[in-house]
Amino acid sequence: SDVVRVGLMGLGTVGCGVVRLVEEHQDDLYNQTGQRIEIRKVLVQDLDKKRPVPLEKSMLTDDPRAILEDEEIDVIVEVMGGIEPARECIRQALEKGKHVVTANKDLMALHGAELLSVAERHGCDVFYEASVAGGIPILRALVEGFSSDRITQMIGIVNGTTNYILTEMDRRGAGFEDALTQAQALGYAESDPTSDVDGLDAARKMAILATLGFHMEMPLEDVEVQGIADITTEDVQFAEQLGYRMKLVGIARSDDGKVEVSVQPALLPQNHPLSSVDGVYNAVYVHGEAVGETMFYGPGAGDMPTATAVVSDLVTVVKNMRLGINGSGIVAPYREKVLKTPRE
Ligand code: NAP
Ligand code: HSE
Repeated sequence: SDVVRVGLMGLGTVGCGVVRLVEEHQDDLYNQTGQRIEIRKVLVQDLDKKRPVPLEKSMLTDDPRAILEDEEIDVIVEVMGGIEPARECIRQALEKGKHVVTANKDLMALHGAELLSVAERHGCDVFYEASVAGGIPILRALVEGFSSDRITQMIGIVNGTTNYILTEMDRRGAGFEDALTQAQALGYAESDPTSDVDGLDAARKMAILATLGFHMEMPLEDVEVQGIADITTEDVQFAEQLGYRMKLVGIARSDDGKVEVSVQPALLPQNHPLSSVDGVYNAVYVHGEAVGETMFYGPGAGDMPTATAVVSDLVTVVKNMRLGINGSGIVAPYREKVLKTPRE
């Protein structure tokens, strides 16, 4: 068959972006893969909610089994978020030989190693490019682009919501709550935005970057985290007057096997490259021993930027299916074997 059937789990900000992108770019996707991507069923919580994408109501289900037990579905795209039921759905999908694409950093930072080993046992792919820095293909860059190098440091603005809030406070004198409400309305925030505000979302992303960049398991509990809940509009504007800019920054360093990862608000000089990363934009600075300094920049959240990462992963799964190499690790960029844990 020249059709790959997808079960979409979640139809919120990212899920709707995925539906639109698959529809709008269908011909380009076909040209690259020789396969037509068909979204066959969509899991939601509320079957009666009005949706911004024109999907037939018969495609919606509120029962994960309708997707997991459909033998014609080849790939699951998990964009529900949270740990359960996402973890159990992904595990069951892999056990049934379905490949998985997810945007879920909460899950991958905590249970990524477990899910990747289930995938390996069942010859399946799990890809999660969208879990870090939205539309920036940073995981591919780390795993494929720098495979020849030894990465020593990564510094990132990896949460769009907090960067949007700090930028609104700085430029428009917005209050914290108003700026957060705007970020939520734009679809940038997590369903519980305290994980953005308290730095946890950034910590999860930095743990994933450290695991892939340093080739070692980075337990989430070892990441030091401080968020922006205590920062006021006055703090941000005072810093600006003194020549600095307030940013929530993640830092990951590896020095001779000793790894340190932290997330904290930082005052950066205004001429620092990360100071000009505004609004929902993210950036990740990567230092490698051989390459030197590199910087990746782009939209860190939002429906269509995030959908580009999800659908690109889907394209890789489909190409792997054509080549019959799913789960082989050859073009599975994030099949990171956890070789060692950080040394103190
Ligand atoms: P969202 O707008 O809250 O959408 C979540 C969707 O999942 C909704 O359609 C919801 O159904 C459905 N859902 C949630 N729990 C469910 C359950 N138990 N059973 C069935 N359906 C369930 O979330 P989002 O912003 O799209 O984010 C989705 C994932 O992508 C999260 O892991 C998030 O961290 C990640 N992500 C988001 C962004 C972004 O910019 N938003 C960027 C990168 C990664 P109803 O619609 O019926 O409520
Ligand atoms: N809530 C996240 C953010 C979504 O604001 O960066 C993208 O991962």
